[in-house]
Amino acid sequence: MNYGYFDNINREYVITRPDTPAPWANYLGSPEYGAIISNNAGGYSFVKSGANGRILRYQFNSEDKPGRYLYIRDDETKDYWSASWQPVGKDMSTYKSECHHGTAYTNMIAEYAQIKSEALYYVPLNKTYEVWRLKLTNTSDKTRKISAFAYAEFTNENNYEQDQVNLQYTLFITRTYFKENKIVQTINENCNNAVNGSTGKERFLGLAGASVTSYNGDKAAFLGRYHSYGNPIAVENGMCDNVLNYNSNGCGALHSALTIEPGETKELVFVLGQKNNDDADVILKQYEDISFVETELQELKDYWHSQLENLNVTTPDSAFNSMINTWNAYQCFITFIWSRAASFIYCGQRNGYGYRDTVQDIQGIIHLNPELAAEKIRFMISAQVDNGGGLPLVKYDHNAGHEDTPDDASYVKATGHPAYRADDALWLFPTVYKYIGETGNKAFLDEVIPYANGGEDTIYEHLKRGIGFSMERLGDHKMPAGLHADWNDCLRLGKKGESSFVAMQLYYAMTILKEYAEDKKDSEYIAYLTQIQKELGDTIQKECWEEDRFVRGIKEDGQVIGSKKDIEANMWLNPQSWAVISGLATKEQAELALESVHRELNTPYGVRVMAPSFQKHAFEGALALLFNPSTKENGGIFSQPQGWIILAESLMGHGNRAYEYFRESSPASQNDNADVRLLEPYVHGQFTESTESPFEGRSHVHWLTGTASTVMVGCVEGMLGLRPDADGLLVQPAIPSEWKEITIDKVFRGKKITIKVENPDGAEGGYKEFYLNGEKMDKNYIPAESLKDVNEVVLKM
Ligand code: GLC
Repeated sequence: MNYGYFDNINREYVITRPDTPAPWANYLGSPEYGAIISNNAGGYSFVKSGANGRILRYQFNSEDKPGRYLYIRDDETKDYWSASWQPVGKDMSTYKSECHHGTAYTNMIAEYAQIKSEALYYVPLNKTYEVWRLKLTNTSDKTRKISAFAYAEFTNENNYEQDQVNLQYTLFITRTYFKENKIVQTINENCNNAVNGSTGKERFLGLAGASVTSYNGDKAAFLGRYHSYGNPIAVENGMCDNVLNYNSNGCGALHSALTIEPGETKELVFVLGQKNNDDADVILKQYEDISFVETELQELKDYWHSQLENLNVTTPDSAFNSMINTWNAYQCFITFIWSRAASFIYCGQRNGYGYRDTVQDIQGIIHLNPELAAEKIRFMISAQVDNGGGLPLVKYDHNAGHEDTPDDASYVKATGHPAYRADDALWLFPTVYKYIGETGNKAFLDEVIPYANGGEDTIYEHLKRGIGFSMERLGDHKMPAGLHADWNDCLRLGKKGESSFVAMQLYYAMTILKEYAEDKKDSEYIAYLTQIQKELGDTIQKECWEEDRFVRGIKEDGQVIGSKKDIEANMWLNPQSWAVISGLATKEQAELALESVHRELNTPYGVRVMAPSFQKHAFEGALALLFNPSTKENGGIFSQPQGWIILAESLMGHGNRAYEYFRESSPASQNDNADVRLLEPYVHGQFTESTESPFEGRSHVHWLTGTASTVMVGCVEGMLGLRPDADGLLVQPAIPSEWKEITIDKVFRGKKITIKVENPDGAEGGYKEFYLNGEKMDKNYIPAESLKDVNEVVLKM
């Protein structure tokens, strides 16, 4: 069953049944002013920090409430409903609704009792407040008396935890006022008047476009005793009782009584934010001209759609197109901007950027906005310690050159991260490579960037130190030591344990750096890299290859993890995909390893991260045991690695397999299976439950996951085969045999390229002929210097 569809033209997902199996969310604004909203208007807002800037309350792990509620009441029949299906939840046979989640806006359209409503929610571009525009149209043939109510549940304190738990304090620091057309809430109001510093805060919910008939600033007064969000007493009565809070929970509730003639539309604009009274007045004034909303909405759409324009694909699979052109791309921007800051699962308590997550997130937008990516790459490089490792957590207020490191107790205390990860800085290599490939900007390597803890170097030297970090921390077999953990947070091999995944990442990093070293004629270093890469390659081959698979690693005490003879967890996904991606596996090994993956890890919902799950035979350090079988790192279908296996299969020219994995795990492909998958069909989650779970196929942890970028890379570099390097663009698609033709429109270094891939014979990889602007080329490669402003490429498979 499905609950909606993809509108590819408008770049929207349209929810046609509001009773979705989970709250299906959208992101508004940015962490400067962040707002999350579900298809039933549930969600919360914060200013700058989810932890310390929370202004709207949300009950996590609950029934998607409260939210940005707009109630509508027929003052003659006294019947009432809400502009989102919930919280009132009218019978769906009489209440018709559509929720349009778009790029940074959400519009809810409903029709009930011959009143059509449209509730549009957005944060204006680069602004730090939110707008709820309610349009009401009388579709009947008689004059209607309608009351509209807006309700916002303010927190009593900006600190989320304090608001939730320290009630003996937070209940007594806030009060509300009614001023003209708005509720103003103050926190620690007296501090504003105090001589030394004004620490008090003010929030507001205001109305433009109509006058306020009645109001509440007190939550209990608005809702009423033993009432709830679905039947607030004020809405039931058609009137708020103008009670303001004092030593109780505050809220913003505004009521406007309207007369709407047949066919007429009335518009109300509610604005909410954390601003003082004067600023709020200035903001509200702009919306007296209600067309201002349309202008702002257009601005938002123009901005976001322009971010998505650099790549457009047309394949026979509309799910693939919807994901790559809009939703996966949009999710990449959301993870890029929001990191893991706030969702319905991440409650907003994170205080920084995870190193590896962020460096991976960057990869997802490089083909769309490489310069935006470059800014973040610089930032992340400035969080590399001078020993070459990455800071496991980069604080939001990161001060490059002046940070403590995991070697300092103070860092460990401040971040809770006890030690270096083995993989963090190694993610920089493919990320920098992709940026330089997309732009041709080799001078990037010469930019000087500080180290987190002092000193500075060119990016090229930073990368060298990245290699150095691993080389100076080798385990007994001369592979990089596991340290605290590698990509897999749940895998503790011991400080001197060794991870094959990290070894492969290091091997790959060496290939990348060698290319740059050659460019720089850094001959001594080339000789060094060549030698250590050869040694590392031999070691991995010797220690990690086992018949038809690469093992996962070697524990500090010598125990091999992921060996065929293990009872549990004897087959791991990432070493197989990364053996291919890193270029380490021979062709024969690659074929065998990928076949083993398909045989032992594939499921109808994607590929398991390992199998069988740990239950009785976990080694010490296998923290995955904490999770139920087939869940997360314990044999679940971890979503991030789906992108890597799609990439690996594509690199081998296995378009059919790559596509099989895409179809199994892609949200859009599961649109009609929403009751099983539960999560939004337009976003990747962190993992999907696998075969041993009674809920096989159920996905979790929406939106903020590295999956967005890995699957994007798997599809764009892998299946579409768009692989830029410093000098041009390799085009090497690996697509399912059934795709007879695909078209790719790509902007590359400011030039337009239309690539037509023709596949009449049903190949799944490789090519026969390659044409650039009518000229037959001897390779499937577009040298950057041969590009015109507009280019036609034909690749015959
Ligand atoms: C989560 C973490 C990521 C880690 C992965 C696997 O997605 O955010 O850092 O690599 O889990 O453990």
